Formats: sequence, structure tokens, C-alpha cells
Amino acid sequence: MGASLLQSTAMLRFLFLVLNTLLVVPELASAGITRHYKFNIKLHSVTRLCHTKSIVSVNGQFPGPRIIAREGDRVVVTVVNNVQNNVTIHWHGIRQLQSGWADGPAYVTQCPIQTGQSYVYNFTITGQRGTLFWHAHISWLRSTVYGPIIILPKKNVLYPFAKPYKEVPIILGEWFNADPEAVITQALQNGGGPNVSDAYTINGLPGPLYNCSAKDTFKLKVKPGKTYLLRLINAALNDELFFSIANHTLTVVDVDAIYVKPFKTDTILITPGQTTNLLLKAKPQFPNATFLMTARPYATGRGTFDNSTVAGLLHYEPPSKSSPSASSFKNLPVFKPTLPPLNDTSFAANFTRKLRSLANSEFPANVPKKVDKRFFFTVGLGTNPCPQNQTCQGPSNSTKFSASVNNVSFVLPTTAILQAHFFQQSKGVYTTDFPTTPTFPFNYTGTPPNNTMVSNGTKVVVLPFNTSVELVLQDTSILGIESHPLHLHGFNFYLVGQGFGSFDSKKDPPKFNLVDPVERNTVGVPSGGWVAIRFFADNPGVWFMHCHLEVHTSWGLKMAWIVTDGKLPNQKLPPPPSDLPQC
Ligand code: C2O
Repeated sequence: MGASLLQSTAMLRFLFLVLNTLLVVPELASAGITRHYKFNIKLHSVTRLCHTKSIVSVNGQFPGPRIIAREGDRVVVTVVNNVQNNVTIHWHGIRQLQSGWADGPAYVTQCPIQTGQSYVYNFTITGQRGTLFWHAHISWLRSTVYGPIIILPKKNVLYPFAKPYKEVPIILGEWFNADPEAVITQALQNGGGPNVSDAYTINGLPGPLYNCSAKDTFKLKVKPGKTYLLRLINAALNDELFFSIANHTLTVVDVDAIYVKPFKTDTILITPGQTTNLLLKAKPQFPNATFLMTARPYATGRGTFDNSTVAGLLHYEPPSKSSPSASSFKNLPVFKPTLPPLNDTSFAANFTRKLRSLANSEFPANVPKKVDKRFFFTVGLGTNPCPQNQTCQGPSNSTKFSASVNNVSFVLPTTAILQAHFFQQSKGVYTTDFPTTPTFPFNYTGTPPNNTMVSNGTKVVVLPFNTSVELVLQDTSILGIESHPLHLHGFNFYLVGQGFGSFDSKKDPPKFNLVDPVERNTVGVPSGGWVAIRFFADNPGVWFMHCHLEVHTSWGLKMAWIVTDGKLPNQKLPPPPSDLPQC
């Protein structure tokens, strides 16, 4: 009896589903498909710069596999952890509307996937097209665990530019001969700056300017006259990068999976966490030359950094098989691009200023015009005391390096904030008293205060659903001004203003661009300056915000927003999936 009742309910449910499907067929046709991926996290041996080592990777690939989907598609990735480390994966830049459980930052939206365990990330790509990337989001594992996310427009929808002949992902990374996990563990222990990387990479390859690496060079072969779409990603751990191709101009058409007004440039500046689509028009005729594409850092901090240069090769297919022969092809002259000076802050500011939304009827810029809540956050470095009976290697031997937002150095809890929030068990996990403005105001880019100590805590800001937010991010001079690429999870924001010095709440807002500001998920806070961003808190959940220089995140330059549920069913965070990892 019970069984047959169950069967008939199941039958009814099935009929209901069929009916529903029939009724919404036209919608289904454009609603996208589901794409399944399996990520097996395992160790895999890789040789670079004549060093062979075992790295944590996905499916034994480095860089990891590409996720390819169309706007509107659902992506389902089963992640299986077969390494000793705890693991999570973050889908950097994916809005995760109503799917906060799939966002990935460890101890923020989920507990890590432990050895031998798995978790299914399930999300739909809504209102985005371009390039994003996925990466591990725990400790420094993202140094080897990363790969591209390629989002094509919906079927039969064109790019707002001529269809490129080919599309090529170019993912910039950072290679350590040492184990990156050991590097950060040691640095956090002794309080000093972590050892820097040994090379940068293009699609995992360091290229000819490094020791022992000529055979490990990324090569892009092009046909004269054709246009190529380069999907450029900065997956480096700790370095903003300049990128250029000798004797070629690039057209920027998209950043962070949002189209922009196209503009031409010889050099790109891309911070960790940023992505961009570039059109590369090959020369009309075979040029009798080979061209290098190179990337090296834009660095503004006081600490040491890896100042080396990664290079890849752009070469042209010869006009016919006979001329020039393969051997003379090797003897062609090689041109090398000139990149800006390593600390070229004015280049950075000018480059950012050129980025504008399309802001047309098809792709409107939905900038919040009126602001419900204003926030002013300082971002920068600071110190923590050195433990007793220890000598530290911070700015002094009695201090450790730290970093903070509004002088709060964020401490990750030992359970996930999103879980605690959803089940209303915040006690002992987080508090909701994150300061909305600095507790002790000072001239942020002038003489720094004598006391550089930060406070430590797990504090969040609670935003009622659909709050329109204006946030000013202000760099500080504490332990030196420095550019900070701030990344916000769960949202895109509009960059409505930027400037140098301290933000002036009277003089600066009237100059804000509310017409066609660039929309993105990661913005470089200028060295010794500020940015103002706006967004609607239209996505319920817990959303991490942090500097995408991993060392600064490790030091505490991070915080979280809690966006409450709205009243309508589609404004609520659904309950967690049953396989959500537990701590
Ligand atoms: Cu790409 Cu929270 O990170």
C-alpha cells in the first residue's frame, strides 16, 4: 500500500514534470544545456627550469583542463580529492546567483574537501560571456591548480565584434621550484615576506629567457591577415603583470567576462584575478620575422619580487611550403616588445581609465544611481607582534607582517561562515561588527602612524537583500604604498571613480562616472590612491572580498559580506547540497 502510494506520487510528479516541460519548451530551447566535468585532484610530476617536482594538479594536467560553456549553461563539476592536502575550487568571477554553496573559498562558503572525499560544484552561468578562470581556494594551492573558463555567447548570438578566426587561451602563472605550501608556511611562521617565485609561465611554460627552458616555450602560430581572440588570464599568485606582443597592437574587447568599448593598446596590464579578451590582428603579409610575447611584473611594494620575464613566440605560417624553408624559418629575426618600467603607476592609472562599459541598449550599464549604504575601507599592510621567545623577520625582529581591511586582519574560522549563517549558528564563528569606516582616521597616503599593529578577527558586514552599495577602497602608506588587486566574490561591480592620495568625500563623488564605468570582479586599488565601486547586493549568501595577491590574503587582507535572503523564492539561498563537505 505504502509502496504503491509512493509509486503513484512519483508518477504524478513525473506527469507534472512532462507537462511543465511541454509548456516551457520555447524557453528551454534558449535556456542552455548542462555540461559535466570531472576534476581528479592528484599529484603529478612536472619538470620546469630543470627542476622536477610533484605538483598538485587536476587530471594530471598543468595548467588544468578548460571549462567551456555558453552563457545560460549549467556547469556541474565533480571534484575528487586524491591528495593529502585539503582542497576547494573557486570559479573566479562566476556570479553564483542563488548558488553560493558552489563558490569555493575554504572556510567561507564551504569546509574543504578532505582526502578521499568529493564534492559536486553545480552552477549556472548567467549574464556573462568572455573569459574567467577556476583555481584552488585554500592556502597557496592555486599556484598549480588553475585553468581557464571559456564562456561563449548563447547559441546563434554573435560577438559585438567580427568573428575571430581562432580563439587562444593564454594563462599567465607563477612557478616555484620550491613547494609553494612550504613557502607560505615558513613565511607565516617567521613573519617575513615569503620567498619569491622562480619564473612566470604562459600556459604553464616559462620560455626561452629562463635557464633550461627554450624547449618549454608557448608558441602561437598565426596565418597572415587573420584575427585571433586571445583569452588572457592572470593566474599568478603574487604579481600584477604587463603583457605585450612585439610589433603588434591588441584590441581590448572584454574584461572579466563583460564586453567593453574596444580600444587599442600595445601593452596590457592585468592583475591576478583579472581576465581579458584581446583581438590580435595578424599582419597582412608574411613578415619574415618572429615576435616574442612577454610578461613581467608591475610591482609597487617595498618587498622583493620576482622581476623575471616570461616569453612566448608568435610566428607566422610561411606563405607556401617551399619558401622560406624550415631551416631559414629558424633564422628569421626575433623582435622583442618593450614593456613599461616595473613600477609604472601612471601607466596603470591610464590603462584603467580606458576601460569603459559598452553601455548600449543590448548591454546596458546597470550602475546604482542612488546609494543605500556607503563604506570606506582602507587596504594595506600592518604588523602583528612576534610571539615571545621567537625572533621574527617582519619589518622589525619583534613583529610579523600582517595585512588588513580597516585595520582588521581577517582570521578564517575553522568552519564555513556560509553554513554558520544559513543554520543561524554564528556564535564562535563570526561577528557582524566589521567597521564600515576606519576606527582611527589618518592621512592615509601621508606620513603613516607610528602604531602599525592590526587587530585580528572574523568580522563581516551584513547587507539586506538588494542594498545598493558604494565602497571606497583606500590604499595606505603603512609599510609603504602598494597596488592591491581587490576581488569581490558573487558580484560584478562598477568602477565609478579612482584617484591618487586620500579620497575626498566632497570633491571626488561629483566626478564619478555613472554612465559607462567598467564592470568587473577585480580592480587594482592604485598604489597610494583609491577606487570607488558600486554594486547591488542582489545575491544572497556569504561573499568573500580579498586582495588577489595571495601573500596579502594570507596576511589577512580579506573580509566577507553576508547578503540576506530577499522575500521572493528566487531571492533566497537554497539549502546546501547533501554532499557539502563538513569540517
Ligand atoms: Cu580568485 Cu577569492 O579568488
